[in-house]
Amino acid sequence: MFETLKKAPVDKIFALLGEFRADPRPEKMDLGIGVYKDASNNTPVMRAVTKVEQQMLDEQTTKTYVGVTGNRGYCDAVVDLIFGDSIDLDRVASVQAPGGTGSLWVIIQLLNRARPGGKVWISDPSWPNHWPMMELAGLNPQSYPYFDPETRQVRFEEMMAHLDQLGPDDIVLLHGCCHNPTGANLTPEQWDVVADSLKRTGAFPLIDLAYLGFGDGLETDAYGVRKIAQTCPEAMVGFSASKNFGLYRERAGVAIAIGKDKDQAAIVLSQMGNVIRASFSQSPDHGAEIVRRILTDKALRAEWEKELGEMRDHMLRNRQKLAASMRKQSNSDEFDFIAEHRGMFSLLGLSKEQVEKLKEEHGIYIIDDSRVNIAGVPEDNTDALAEALIGVTR
Ligand SMILES: Cc1ncc(COP(=O)(O)O)c(C=O)c1O
Repeated sequence: MFETLKKAPVDKIFALLGEFRADPRPEKMDLGIGVYKDASNNTPVMRAVTKVEQQMLDEQTTKTYVGVTGNRGYCDAVVDLIFGDSIDLDRVASVQAPGGTGSLWVIIQLLNRARPGGKVWISDPSWPNHWPMMELAGLNPQSYPYFDPETRQVRFEEMMAHLDQLGPDDIVLLHGCCHNPTGANLTPEQWDVVADSLKRTGAFPLIDLAYLGFGDGLETDAYGVRKIAQTCPEAMVGFSASKNFGLYRERAGVAIAIGKDKDQAAIVLSQMGNVIRASFSQSPDHGAEIVRRILTDKALRAEWEKELGEMRDHMLRNRQKLAASMRKQSNSDEFDFIAEHRGMFSLLGLSKEQVEKLKEEHGIYIIDDSRVNIAGVPEDNTDALAEALIGVTR
């Protein structure tokens, strides 16, 4: 059996983390893996999460199965968080899934049932897992222009020229906010244009929402996903609670479908349940129940929103400080985009060789496409980081 197999390609992000952990240099810096870090370089358990876990320990009396589509209160609370009262919730079907990746998995299995082997248009570049996930599901990944490495902005005209030509058999994958890896995002006006185009062409929007609240705030970050759901008759959203609740290893996500009406939503719900049953049967409950308790309790929710705001402010401060240090070190405004981007990442535009040099000479670990994790930037030491970054480019 196994003689037919070759070694699978390594996941470059987790491989880099392994190298970082093995590096003995005390001044080493991990700007690679996409997890939030506070000023002491720790990925904290959020305060509201710790409180709720204690509650659960005291109150939970059973660990029996929850059900195929998961914790209903959790799914409803997440749907409410994302959409508020922007759409008629009768159109919405939601199921619990293991993290953002698990949510996307359920969604693309369902899309492959609806449009077997269908084309999924993915931004160039995108989260490295999008492409192989589509292939594994039997869908046909393709790319659309998104990021201009010269200006470090969205190539919006080219993107739209591409999207405007699509049709009802096409699926368009959009990052709901905080684009990974570029940090370059659509403005509200640009979301309006994208939504109108999708409505006109009938192309199907699939939104990956892994960083809600990490950009400009919960409401502002939800603009795009709400606009699409309001404008297009159908859409799907893969939500992750990994980053905004700090629940990475608990695997809490929600797969959401917005249908034309209540009847369509019911059909899609039954299909998503059917996919889950045949894939992994049920999702882990712990993280989902934490999120449910936080979102449905006024005081806990306020505490969570406050800490999420602190995390966002930390990343914004890091952006401003690093951009200022880069301006000083490079004597130019070339890197001002770092302060303008939003979310946990920015793509710096360094070559693979320059990225390698950063690792070898300075112990600074970033992904080889030159994506930096802004949360990992040392707030009090941005000058040293900027000096190293500019050093390898000169
Ligand atoms: C764009 C994007 N989508 C989805 C995910 C998946 O997150 P999760 O860990 O919840 O599966 C990530 C995580 O890095 C991401 O960056």
